[in-house]
Amino acid sequence: MSSTVGVRISVNGEVREHEVEPRLLLVHYLRDRLGLTGTHVGCDTTNCGACTVHLNGEAVKSCTVFAVQADGAEVTTIEGMADGAELHPLQEAFWKNHGLQCGYCTPGMIMAAADLLQRNPDPSESEVRHGLEGNLCRCTGYQNIVRAVMEAAHSPQRTTVGPPPPEKPEAREEVGKGVGA
Ligand code: FES
Ligand code: FES
Repeated sequence: MSSTVGVRISVNGEVREHEVEPRLLLVHYLRDRLGLTGTHVGCDTTNCGACTVHLNGEAVKSCTVFAVQADGAEVTTIEGMADGAELHPLQEAFWKNHGLQCGYCTPGMIMAAADLLQRNPDPSESEVRHGLEGNLCRCTGYQNIVRAVMEAAHSPQRTTVGPPPPEKPEAREEVGKGVGA
């Protein structure tokens, strides 16, 4: 009996097909099988949010999702945020506002912030802080991160990412809560 399972996942708009072990986490699939190392691993306790990606348009911690649970889904990682040479407004705003120091948390922060802005395009400062509470930063004190997200919210460019979310992503509840989980 085979110990692997076939998965077909659209990652940053490109369909990828692999045989994977059922226990392989999505974060390790992205990093080790696809070479998308922008998604980071900062803990093994579902706390830090460094591994945040979008699954069917919603932020999830990819260390809480098995790759097989993403079969048939759309996944967006930090590598899928820029439009060619043009940075996503959140990337631009983090850069302009010094929203990072070591940068380890930054991909997860940006993916979480993109999810927040999709749900709430004009958040208050406290809503930004609440929306990012599942993402930890050891360096910045958060002030510049919050400022960057507020600035990106008012960018004339798109602040969404990836395909529009499905009507009701049924797998969502099962495969990992959002960044605040
Ligand atoms: S690696 Fe820390 S929450 Fe996923
Ligand atoms: S910039 Fe270093 S952990 Fe956030």
